[in-house]
Amino acid sequence: MKPLLQIALDHTDLVSALDTVHRVKDYVDVVECGTILCFCEGIKTVSVIKTLCPEKIVVCDLKCCDAGEILAKQAFSAGAKWMTVVCAAPLATMITTKKIADSYQGEIQIELFGNWTFEDAKEWVKNGITQAIYHRGRDAQAAGQGWSQSDLDKMKRLSDLGIGLSVTGGITPESISTFKDINVKVFIAGRALSAAADPKKAATQFREQIDKYWD
Ligand code: 5RP
Repeated sequence: MKPLLQIALDHTDLVSALDTVHRVKDYVDVVECGTILCFCEGIKTVSVIKTLCPEKIVVCDLKCCDAGEILAKQAFSAGAKWMTVVCAAPLATMITTKKIADSYQGEIQIELFGNWTFEDAKEWVKNGITQAIYHRGRDAQAAGQGWSQSDLDKMKRLSDLGIGLSVTGGITPESISTFKDINVKVFIAGRALSAAADPKKAATQFREQIDKYWD
């Protein structure tokens, strides 16, 4: 399947986030209430975004690491379809969060930051978790971390386990080709869309690159 395009709203205030939503919502498939936005403006942003984009998949990027039941109820009852749980969370948190997601016909996504293993990934799959986000962290990127062959190999192995993979972390239209041999479910772009002088044009450039490399 052709990768979807997701906008990550990492604004520190809701007004600016909504401005970006109005500019790009017709050109993306998925709208994410980013970790930064959720921290700064609260989980209410999810219901505001869902009201503005009823036909889009809305993601609540909480990067949950504990209290999965309470946080998942908040996210999914507000209208999220997907919610993130960080890979360092205990398996118990993932299982509890998934149970709430299931009750809302939603899904959880495991955010792959820092330390995780393929044994962990097999446990996630065994417990019915179907999505993960391969993430080059914002801070790691700022410190000079690029995308390596090792990243691509890990993506392939995760994909082979049956995990639907989102890829994120400073993604630009120019970097899409790096992942052309990977079975990417979603490309997540934040700053490349929201900070673009013309976000619609930027979204179109992402689409052109996706169309070029995936049938
Ligand atoms: C940060 C995130 C961001 O939403 C994600 O990395 C996309 O943002 P950008 O394209 O600006 O890097 O989850 O933790």
